[in-house]
Amino acid sequence: MIDENEASTSPFSGRPGGSESMGGQNGSNHNGAGPDAKIFDLDVKALYYGKFKAVRDIGLSIEKGTITAFIGPSGCGKSTVLRCLNRMNDLKRGFRFEGHIRYLGKDIYAKSIDPVAVRRTIGMVFQKPNPFAMTVYRNVTYGLRLNGFKGNQQEKVEQALRAAALWDEVKDKLHSSALALSGGQQQRLCIARSIATEPEVLLMDEPCSAIDPVATRKIEDLMHELKANFTIAIVTHNLQQAKRVADKTAFLYVDTGGGERTGYLVEFGDTHEIFENPKEKATQEYIKGDFS
Ligand SMILES: Nc1ncnc2c1ncn2[C@@H]1O[C@H](COP(=O)(O)OP(=O)(O)O)[C@@H](O)[C@H]1O
Ligand SMILES: [Mg+2]
Repeated sequence: MIDENEASTSPFSGRPGGSESMGGQNGSNHNGAGPDAKIFDLDVKALYYGKFKAVRDIGLSIEKGTITAFIGPSGCGKSTVLRCLNRMNDLKRGFRFEGHIRYLGKDIYAKSIDPVAVRRTIGMVFQKPNPFAMTVYRNVTYGLRLNGFKGNQQEKVEQALRAAALWDEVKDKLHSSALALSGGQQQRLCIARSIATEPEVLLMDEPCSAIDPVATRKIEDLMHELKANFTIAIVTHNLQQAKRVADKTAFLYVDTGGGERTGYLVEFGDTHEIFENPKEKATQEYIKGDFS
């Protein structure tokens, strides 16, 4: 099996060429989507790892320029669902998908779509910061180089690092190893690396769980800023974080009937509704458990 970190250090390996364009590369992003446009439309019937049905029945939409949080108990399938949004799950052994996920109207699970192209277009930031063992500068230009970017790299690097609220801290160490940065800085560098190629969407799987509270707040503030240019989906086990950053929240729970533990979507809506006025009993209890 390919490890998540390994996968993301070589997200562009795999089936070359022949793919339908997913848009959103080399600065040609943000096309085709109006202000209230749907970026994602999920109609997930079932997700399997081998014979195990890990997740069922997830139907929701993600709108442009919003932050959507996936919350719920450990093992309910938050990461599994997030990884479906850029076909990162294809790298997991035995993974099988039933349903549709439309990205800007295109079914990313259609046969004509190259999953590698999807992963290039839809960036992902992981739990543990995973900068590459190269300079800060080369981390940021990594995706640009793969995409054959012909413009001004230096300008792009500064732009991405500024957008990731990291420029002032690293402008004098652009040519030093990224591994010498603090954990919080490394995570913001990973965000800079992801946004350098101007993806439409940024996926983040518990991006703050391995960094301290001060660095966490910096990333949360940053997410608010990034919303102006990107659509964000985040997995978090931290309900307060969901409340602070997300416009929309999806609460997943686990169905233990039939001897299996299958995650499903209980409730999806505006974050304040989910936290202050949840409709479902399971949501009420889960929220109460954390806040009381
Ligand atoms: N690569 C994998 N192979 C087999 N089972 C997996 C794999 N990844 C996750 N699972 C299982 O799928 C379920 C959902 O996992 P996950 O999406 O990681 O949940 P969460 O992120 O909510 O904690 C869990 O039962 C987990 O053990
Ligand atoms: Mg997870």
